[in-house]
Amino acid sequence: MTTTANVKAATPNQCDEPSTDMEAFKKILGSSKNIICIAGAGLSAPSGIPIFRGSEGALWRKYDMFKLSTKAGFLDSPSRVWQFEHYRRELVFKAKPNAAHDALAKFTIPYFRERVSPGSTFTLITQNVDELSRKALESVKSSLPPDSLGEGLSDPEHPPLIEMHGSLFDLECTAYECKHRETNYDSPLCPALAGTELIYEVGSKEPEPDIPKKNLPRCSKCGSLQRPGMVWFGEVPYRVDEVLKLTENADLILVVGTSSVVHPAAKLAGIVKAAGGKVAVFNIDRSKRDEQADFLFLGSADVILPEALSMKHV
Ligand code: APR
Ligand code: ZN
Repeated sequence: MTTTANVKAATPNQCDEPSTDMEAFKKILGSSKNIICIAGAGLSAPSGIPIFRGSEGALWRKYDMFKLSTKAGFLDSPSRVWQFEHYRRELVFKAKPNAAHDALAKFTIPYFRERVSPGSTFTLITQNVDELSRKALESVKSSLPPDSLGEGLSDPEHPPLIEMHGSLFDLECTAYECKHRETNYDSPLCPALAGTELIYEVGSKEPEPDIPKKNLPRCSKCGSLQRPGMVWFGEVPYRVDEVLKLTENADLILVVGTSSVVHPAAKLAGIVKAAGGKVAVFNIDRSKRDEQADFLFLGSADVILPEALSMKHV
């Protein structure tokens, strides 16, 4: 998977093709008042986190990743789903936010954004469950003197970050009468998962274990089996009403590193456009409906976003 391709020009402008004019985009960014970004797996790809719909297909070991991200997949084999989530957690433990996370995090903070886009609001809505945007934001915030953060970050109408699919580090009890949720950064989550991330890796001859439920992650309150706490296919993402309200009020949406096929995230650009706002797509490749965008910048997110948001040298 290529993650560091240089910025390259999109298809040359024809009548209805999106613009690739970076200076024109910066003017729009500078005059927009309510800006949102919807981000997907491509944002974290330069950090070494694999995307879902890449050319290698959506397989983990030999299983369909989408099936592993459903309640049916979990009921079918909690052992396999927990090994999948353990594998992803281990990858994320090793990953660091990249320059695109960093640029978006800075853009979230009025101290930086005011110079580029005065008087604007900004919310980053991510579909990613790796917490890397959260980490980048915390790191940028902690590098600034507290009095330079301003009040913008605590405005409940415009939260800096919405993780609409939750986090890999959230767990939920499967007992109907409990449903206790907790956050857990342990590596591994339980002894039975230790080392299973290496199975099927090159050189590994270990067969996949079928871990009994009693040895999988258990609820700290009632002892029942836990499930991964992030949003699976067929479930309602978090804070959807907030996301839709922000989208309805947005005059510019940045669509970053998403294949734009999973709803409701996939429809946000259309909502902004229908209300007369602008759509700017940043992707390493062509993506669904990007021909309807106002701007299209093809390249790796960690290369194009710092430039587009003027956060390269701040
Ligand atoms: N920079 C920018 N974009 C990139 C990069 C990169 N370095 N690498 C890949 N991309 C783009 C791909 O071209 C693709 O359009 O990122 C997109 C990733 O698409 P998906 O793998 O489909 O991920 P995403 O859109 O986030 O999927 C949405 O579906 O699988 C579920 O819940 C999961 O949150 C996920 C949701
Ligand atoms: Zn419980």
